[in-house]
Amino acid sequence: MTTKIIDFKLLGDDRGSLIALEENHNVPFDVKRVYYIFGTKEGVRRGYHAHKNLKQLAICTSGSCQFLLDDGKIQTHVQLNSPTQGLLIEGLIWREMYDFTPDCVLMVLADNYYNEDDYIRDYDEFLKTVNP
Ligand code: TYD
Repeated sequence: MTTKIIDFKLLGDDRGSLIALEENHNVPFDVKRVYYIFGTKEGVRRGYHAHKNLKQLAICTSGSCQFLLDDGKIQTHVQLNSPTQGLLIEGLIWREMYDFTPDCVLMVLADNYYNEDDYIRDYDEFLKTVNP
């Protein structure tokens, strides 16, 4: 279980900027799903889950938000505030997202389709799973 910031190569010219995402190149997995969270209301905190078996790469294409990442022992807080950076989350990591700016568009690439069976939505169950 790991989390890591990936810096994307910034392409562009005097017209502006461009980032290209390619599976198994700068996105380190097969991409089966992309979703994005936007229009998040002030004060909302979401996530509150871990995945049993999913790789995800989260990118704030606009605005910023904070992640709480918890491996069952250590909690870290990471701010995503640039479209040039992605947060890779692999394995059993409890995550919560908060402090969304009104303009935040949080795009997430995932290596599998949506499957509710892959979620752990109960924090005590998460702790028992990572610290058996
Ligand atoms: P939810 O898991 O509550 O979002 P978050 O963890 O970011 O707070 O998802 C909200 C709803 O959207 C829930 O009914 C499940 C559904 N959903 C999909 O159908 N497909 C998806 O890829 C995702 C991420 C969620």
